[in-house]
Amino acid sequence: MCCSSSRNRREKERGEQMALRLPTQLSTPRHLQHRPGLSWRRALSPDAFASSHSSPLAASFRNGKSRVQQAVTCTAQAPSAVNMAPGTPVRPTSILVVGATGTLGRQIVRRALDEGYDVRCLVRPRPAPADFLRDWGATVVNADLSKPESIPATLVGIHTVIDCATGRPEEPIKTVDWEGKVALIQCAKAMGIQKYVFFSIHNCDRHPEVPLMEIKYCTEKFLKDTGLNHITIRLCGFMQGLIGQYAVPILEENSVWGTDAPTRIAYMDTQDIARLTFIALRKENLNGKLLTFAGPRAWTTQEVIALCERLAGQDANVTTVPVSILRLTRQLTRLFEWTNDVADRLAFSEVLTSDTVFSVPMTETYDLLGVDSKDIVTLEMYLQDYFSNILKKLKDLKAQSKQSDIFF
Ligand SMILES: NC(=O)c1ccc[n+]([C@@H]2O[C@H](COP(=O)([O-])OP(=O)(O)OC[C@H]3O[C@@H](n4cnc5c(N)ncnc54)[C@H](OP(=O)(O)O)[C@@H]3O)[C@@H](O)[C@H]2O)c1
Repeated sequence: MCCSSSRNRREKERGEQMALRLPTQLSTPRHLQHRPGLSWRRALSPDAFASSHSSPLAASFRNGKSRVQQAVTCTAQAPSAVNMAPGTPVRPTSILVVGATGTLGRQIVRRALDEGYDVRCLVRPRPAPADFLRDWGATVVNADLSKPESIPATLVGIHTVIDCATGRPEEPIKTVDWEGKVALIQCAKAMGIQKYVFFSIHNCDRHPEVPLMEIKYCTEKFLKDTGLNHITIRLCGFMQGLIGQYAVPILEENSVWGTDAPTRIAYMDTQDIARLTFIALRKENLNGKLLTFAGPRAWTTQEVIALCERLAGQDANVTTVPVSILRLTRQLTRLFEWTNDVADRLAFSEVLTSDTVFSVPMTETYDLLGVDSKDIVTLEMYLQDYFSNILKKLKDLKAQSKQSDIFF
């Protein structure tokens, strides 16, 4: 007991020392400097920030009236940092899940615990603590990717980092998904983390006009350049996201937002993603590989809505937003700094117009992982399950409320 508390203290102190010794910042590697597609072109060194923030141009940006897109470089130097870990052996089962409270992150935690891993979760300090993660048997440590000094202590004693974090819609994309991730990867490298799993977006290399996709692509490259053992997994879309977007509003007879875009997405159940991720993690021959996970079939928005209508047994009240309106809104929001984050999110409208199919044939990946395609949940199965459960619950509630409607 006494030993373990002094060991914990020593580990914490070591983490704090690491924080002080981390390579302070990044500059642009030459081979990435002139990539024409990059939309972020400001060097991410503190000096670059300091100088741009203090320039009159930057000051006028902050006043927020009008905005000229300032160049930001979405590349950073792979840390030349030496591995500072003193060689203490860590258990291969010790993993850190970053973004553990998110849609995918929580399934990663669940799966890891079920498979016997020791799971530590990096969670932002919050008024309502993420108690469910502790209840499941994980350890929770507080840190914030936008506060790099909080990161190193979370990595002490960790073998594998599974990074499921992404900025919430109301937050600036760059702070978490670029600056935060670069800091996390640098710390992981410096502290001798032995494997890093990064979740990216399918086709991110083809859409430099979409800031999040550009950042994902740059992060993939950055991670690769560090030389860390890693796996990058590109994802298409999550079935879970469709519940709030379509299933619930249809049941509640509220409007659902549709588009007239022909884009198709091969949604996948995050439980399947978690299962496949751990299979991939254990295969040494997949080190450094880029995998893409896609669901069994690619769906348009209209098809998803039609499926929900059929399973709910009621028509949806669909408000169709033409893609041209989304694009125009994006252009308008680009004009002002204070709406710029909205514009970044709306940038996906560009992708929606491009008739993209977010899907890949999965046969080879299933073979590689030794997975049977029949074990992968289809959207019909997933939504059928959801609607039959929820409709049964609603029926039970109705029956109960009828029983209580008895007056004497
Ligand atoms: N959703 C999709 O359809 C989709 C498609 C393709 C790829 N992906 C990728 O899959 C991964 C998981 O996505 P998701 O939809 O599960 O994400 P999500 O539900 O939005 O969750 C994001 C997670 O990141 C955490 N986070 C945000 N900012 C943070 C910060 N500053 N410090 C520490 N943690 C922070 C959040 O914590 P809080 O709870 O504190 O906010 C949350 O746990 C991401 O890499 C995403 O880009 C998702």
